[in-house]
Amino acid sequence: MQPSLRDSWWLREVEIPTRVVLAPMAGVSVQAFRRQGRRYGAGLVCSEMVSCAGIEHRNERTLGYLRVGADEHPLAIQIFGSEPEKMAEAARILEAAGADIVDMNFGCPVRKVTKTGAGAHLLEEPDLACRITEAVASAVTVPVTVKMRRGVEDGSRACLAIGPRLVEAGAAALTLHPRSATQMYTGFADHSLTAELVELVDVPVIASGDVTSHAKAEAVLAATGASAVMVGRGAQGNPWAIRDIVLGEGEAPTREEVAAELIVFIRETVRELGERRASGFLKKFYGWYLGHGRFPKPFKNELVQLHATDEVIERLFAAAPGSAELVERLEAELPDPEGETLLEGMPISIYGGG
Ligand SMILES: Cc1cc2nc3c(=O)[nH]c(=O)nc-3n(C[C@H](O)[C@H](O)[C@H](O)COP(=O)(O)O)c2cc1C
Repeated sequence: MQPSLRDSWWLREVEIPTRVVLAPMAGVSVQAFRRQGRRYGAGLVCSEMVSCAGIEHRNERTLGYLRVGADEHPLAIQIFGSEPEKMAEAARILEAAGADIVDMNFGCPVRKVTKTGAGAHLLEEPDLACRITEAVASAVTVPVTVKMRRGVEDGSRACLAIGPRLVEAGAAALTLHPRSATQMYTGFADHSLTAELVELVDVPVIASGDVTSHAKAEAVLAATGASAVMVGRGAQGNPWAIRDIVLGEGEAPTREEVAAELIVFIRETVRELGERRASGFLKKFYGWYLGHGRFPKPFKNELVQLHATDEVIERLFAAAPGSAELVERLEAELPDPEGETLLEGMPISIYGGG
């Protein structure tokens, strides 16, 4: 019988409360995004890809801080790199910081990453990919997982050759986004490959790509036998989509709810990135949140023109006065930041992909 999206499942000793996983997305998966995803029913959330070289050098020039909040667990932190020992060292640091799972990116198609031998390039270097997996899996006690694409070139089936080898090397689960790296985000995710991969390995497989509705999520689970689906672009500025995918109850949020979630998201992101970085980073979120016919287009354009996030928040309160009470309630539920693990100066990449 096909499992329900509401069912919990196990990734080795980590219990994951639902079968919907929030995708790692560079430039998107900040802490506010992850904790909001958990609140709306994602069973597992993931950081964006973090450079293992950056961890090693504590490179402050790149993006600031990685926080692990008490309300994020289970949390996977994703690393990328091409040197087994450096990846292993990064994994040790992340385990100590509170990651429940260390995920490795073998899927990023961006040249800046692949030219260093990391990301999707590793699908063409299966021996090295296995050595990295072995080194990382033996460096930590938490489960180590791999996220990959189908291969580099269009039509590639490399994921099916490499998948079982990665499991043998110690991968506790595999996530497949069955597009080629060359495809980037064009065309569609061919989940017939996900079904083939499920047949080949005896660890959980997570299906990533084009899951945007409850019906699609159910269809992908049924067609592939995957343990869970992953949701990426569909959840951008749209935590309600996660709830709909898990529960199958497509209730549109009110304006007040949208404004309140966005206000809390802005405040949290400013706390995480600082006002200067957050004000630019957040602009794309205004369109994502306020679209879907929720607010008139000129209002979004107005917000994007503003420099200070305080002004954005002011306009949102003015446009949806009833949101104040909701904001208060949401903020009261946030855990005490004092209890957070904070790796100062740990870089996170804003460029990536997978
Ligand atoms: C803006 C953006 C950034 C992404 N960054 C990452 C990343 O850091 N690591 C990764 O493994 N995948 C990354 N991905 C890929 C997603 O995790 C996911 O596999 C892909 O978007 C397909 O799922 P979707 O159709 O639900 O968006 C990124 C995707 C997008 C759109």
